[in-house]
Amino acid sequence: ERISLWGGRFAGGPAEALAALSKSTDFDWRLAGYDIAGSRAHARVLHRAGLLDEAELSDMLAALDTLQEQVDSGEFQPELSDEDVHSALERGLLEIAGPELGGKLRAGRSRNDQIATLGRMYLRDSARIIAGQVLDVVESLIAQAEAHPDAPMPGRTHLQHAQPVLLAHHLLAHAWPLLRDVDRLIDFDDRAAVSPYGSGALAGSSLGLDPQAVAAELGFRDSVENSIDGTAARDVFAEFAFVTAMIGVDLSRLSEEIILWATKEFSFVVLDDAFSTGSSIMPQKKNPDVAELTRGKAGRLIGDLTGLLATLKAMPLAYNRDLQEDKEPVFDAVDTLTLLLPAFSGMVATLEFNTERMAHLAPRGFALATDVAEWLVRQGVPFRVAHELAGAAVKLAESRDCELWDLTDEDYAGISEHLTPQMREVLSTEGSIDSRSSKGGTARSAVAAQLDSARAELSRL
Ligand code: ARG
Repeated sequence: ERISLWGGRFAGGPAEALAALSKSTDFDWRLAGYDIAGSRAHARVLHRAGLLDEAELSDMLAALDTLQEQVDSGEFQPELSDEDVHSALERGLLEIAGPELGGKLRAGRSRNDQIATLGRMYLRDSARIIAGQVLDVVESLIAQAEAHPDAPMPGRTHLQHAQPVLLAHHLLAHAWPLLRDVDRLIDFDDRAAVSPYGSGALAGSSLGLDPQAVAAELGFRDSVENSIDGTAARDVFAEFAFVTAMIGVDLSRLSEEIILWATKEFSFVVLDDAFSTGSSIMPQKKNPDVAELTRGKAGRLIGDLTGLLATLKAMPLAYNRDLQEDKEPVFDAVDTLTLLLPAFSGMVATLEFNTERMAHLAPRGFALATDVAEWLVRQGVPFRVAHELAGAAVKLAESRDCELWDLTDEDYAGISEHLTPQMREVLSTEGSIDSRSSKGGTARSAVAAQLDSARAELSRL
């Protein structure tokens, strides 16, 4: 028989189709532990308000402990007739504590303030787990950077050869956005650390309960200032969904590069066997599936965010049942990232770089032309002119199908008297890289300093 949370004003139970539509235990059961923790805190404030006596409080807490054990062991589970995690657990409590005592716990709280609070608790815990896993990816990137302190590679803009850079510099360029994502999760946590419990359905409670005591017991730094906001707001959920989508997008950019780097044409990396897959038909295939799944799941994480935002758009205050749709997107984001991130850090940690090939290609495609122009500037030639002269050298080399360093001293003298043989000192990958030594540049000295900063940031977070 269905144990309903209402009934007084109803002639009968809900239609089967409505019950099926309404039911959320398939996804909200993962909040059961948080709901029970909330119930414990709520029982204590009921006691302090004189609504549970000493014996009732201790029986209530004991019953909640038993319920938690039964949930943990799987002995207690939601039934088809339970609408949501709250109604299922109330049924469980009534079974353990009896209807007399069990029926007292619902005073002064609503599923509206409960669910808003549980969601924040769950997301705060999840943010911690995800942050740790993102930092594992960062650790893999930093370790690869440290393992290749002076290996050059072609630096690209528009996917065209631009200027040589250090591989370590490029890898760290993927680490910094991830460090900022972890910083964003910490920021998120500060805003999520405010408890809606005590807001009731929307207007607060008349029973003299103390929302701040509940907040403190549940690990929040405060309770909400506004009970309507407390029950209706989901911007904190959306912020979480944004950060998880951003993490997906950041990982997808490195994924795309790894996929390119693993092609025959690039041949910059070899993926470890443990982090690549084969083909059912083509015996030679070794596929970068971790990177491809990451790229694909980034789309899914963006969908989680936009779906949630669409649900929230134009929703009037305060609680509306639409808000039940707030959970699956963020749960999916959590499940997606916690599955993805360990595979991703494993893939990065085990990448093998073909540093010889990268070094060979680093200066090609006239990637040292900027060095020629900047050398001319150091000789006092205005940059506009210097740019033209270096461009003329590129044009000549291109017409001869050779590189800048293959042109003769006479070729250079023919372009300009300023292009003396001394200019050749910058026509090398190493010279080009080490000349960019100011903060944030690609010189070995600057990248060594950057590595220290990245390590420091990693240990701060
Ligand atoms: N299951 C609902 C949710 O996830 C919470 C219950 C509030 N329901 C209600 N009819 N007031 O948002």
